[in-house]
Amino acid sequence: MLPLLTAVELYRFYHRGDDETAALRGISLQVRAGEFVALLGPSGSGKSTLLACLAGLDEPDGGYVEVMGRRMSRRPEAVRANLRARHIGILMQSANLFEHLTVEGNLRLQMSLAGRADRREIDSLLEVTGLTQRRLARPSQLSGGEAARAGLAVALSANPKVLLADEPTAEVDAATEASILSHLADRCRAGRALLVATHSQALAASADRLLLIRDGRLINA
Ligand SMILES: Nc1ncnc2c1ncn2[C@@H]1O[C@H](COP(=O)(O)OP(=O)(O)O)[C@@H](O)[C@H]1O
Ligand SMILES: [Mg+2]
Repeated sequence: MLPLLTAVELYRFYHRGDDETAALRGISLQVRAGEFVALLGPSGSGKSTLLACLAGLDEPDGGYVEVMGRRMSRRPEAVRANLRARHIGILMQSANLFEHLTVEGNLRLQMSLAGRADRREIDSLLEVTGLTQRRLARPSQLSGGEAARAGLAVALSANPKVLLADEPTAEVDAATEASILSHLADRCRAGRALLVATHSQALAASADRLLLIRDGRLINA
């Protein structure tokens, strides 16, 4: 079966003055339908850079990314945005919420953009992420953990084929993490794929496959 997401020999360099940091050094991977993949590595190993390149939010300096068999790298932003909107959900460490909308309003907007506004689905996402009581709050009124959970609900609301998430449960309590994990596992059983960067043992233990990254290289690929 065609992989949903393919990376071929990705390189990414950052420059600061005369210093060069090689954040990604030749990373190749594939994510298939139904897979739950956890990306593990120490701080600074390249996890966030890799997810941003896979999402087409950042451009690799070498190599390329394919989404559903179509190359996304080095394409005009409109093409990247289209592939992203149709197939990829993204949860980065900075939250993806509109400040002037409530939590529920953010969910409704995201779902209408994806052409699926469904009241029951909104209720269910609020419940999974433990935000039912906070549905009318605005992002500035949320705690760090609540904002992270609201960001996850928004990322899930378009029901993307591939969800890329950067430490989605970093600031949540164990009970909420368990609820989020079981929801993510259900999505994978329904054929959706998931690639998560995480430090959580619980999350890593639920994954079908672990990718270990160190100094910009996968060490078990
Ligand atoms: N915008 C940036 N400018 C310069 N260096 C960066 C930038 N973003 C990340 N880096 C560097 O790239 C490396 C990988 O960072 P990152 O992908 O954030 O790792 P992780 O998410 O695993 O903590 C680190 O050495 C980091 O300092
Ligand atoms: Mg990071």
